[in-house]
Amino acid sequence: MSAYIKGLVVRAAGTAPAVEELRLPEVGPGQVRVGIRAAGVCHSDLSMVNGTLSPPHPLVLGHEAAGEVLEAGAGVTRVRPGTHVALNWSPACRECWFCTHGEPWLCAAANVAALENGSTLDGAPVHVTLGLGAFAEQVVVPEKAVIAVPDELSWENAALLGCAVLTGTGAVRNTARVAAGDTVVVIGLGGVGLSVVAAARAAGAAAVIAVDLTEAKKALAEAAGATDFVVSSDNLSKDIRSRTQRLGADHAFECVGRASTIRAAWRATRRGGQVTVVGMGRSDDMVELSALDIFSSARTLRASVYGSADPDVEVPALAQDVLSGALRLDHLITDRITLAEVPAAFDRMARGEGARSVVVF
Ligand code: APR
Ligand code: ZN
Repeated sequence: MSAYIKGLVVRAAGTAPAVEELRLPEVGPGQVRVGIRAAGVCHSDLSMVNGTLSPPHPLVLGHEAAGEVLEAGAGVTRVRPGTHVALNWSPACRECWFCTHGEPWLCAAANVAALENGSTLDGAPVHVTLGLGAFAEQVVVPEKAVIAVPDELSWENAALLGCAVLTGTGAVRNTARVAAGDTVVVIGLGGVGLSVVAAARAAGAAAVIAVDLTEAKKALAEAAGATDFVVSSDNLSKDIRSRTQRLGADHAFECVGRASTIRAAWRATRRGGQVTVVGMGRSDDMVELSALDIFSSARTLRASVYGSADPDVEVPALAQDVLSGALRLDHLITDRITLAEVPAAFDRMARGEGARSVVVF
């Protein structure tokens, strides 16, 4: 039987998100209904409402979440009612070119910014962010979009594993392959950047230089394991050089999603260094690099989408790391909020305050 639930909806471009009553579709074959217990507020959700992206409307926000399977449709084998799960916003089809060539994070069938999944608002179809729309009491999703996690893992930690932590950790381990002794710069210290800091330190980086706009992020950076904290300025590359034997860093991670910070990351690295773009920016925000600079600096510029990871493998592994104490996420959660308080959390995020706000249900 289809259920009525509350969810956070943007009705039209430029309007404020509001809690609305939604009707969920029946659970079809291969689908599951999940009762959401925790959902993190990620910058990508803010990008859906502030004009960075132009998604279709009406739109249910949210994609970083965990919950309990309430109902499993015919043929579902991965989970059953009662299973604790983290949601996966890029479930791999396992059949396309990318999936069969070891790059499931680029799956051609996944990664749709927003789609209709049968949920309705006032009787009309709504779109759900990244196929999930997880700022809602319940969601109906394909079983491949859920990953079983241990019951002992907190809902909040499970939620963060599904986006910020996998994205940040994967960028370090899989995309950039930071090695012991490397020097690392991380620009932008939200949930994603702080996860990069922690993973770089865990990988044995000799220095992790964390960069943000204000001193307010210093304590968070240090809690995540940064060795240095720098307030971003026009002198950033000089500042980084003075901390890296005048060379520049081996690695820079851009965790903001702007051309200017990609440029800053480029200048922060040494000759032959690697720039990893983790932030998602606008389609009209252009990065200018000279042809000579690209050649003679011999740097590598690459993007990391969803941590270049297979979430089905890495989320359970990260969950074990949390349970063993090897990975600490507590410092990432700075606010626990209700669904109705998400717009205020967006405002804090736009001001660069705190790390993750998590909706608890
Ligand atoms: N220099 C340094 N730091 C900056 C700058 C800048 N010019 N501009 C913004 N920041 C900082 C903010 O102060 C904030 O601390 O970047 C941080 C971004 O954090 P969040 O807004 O919490 O974003 P997060 O959810 O971590 O996502 C970061 O990754 O997945 C993408 O879409 C996501 O582009 C976003 C990025
Ligand atoms: Zn996200």
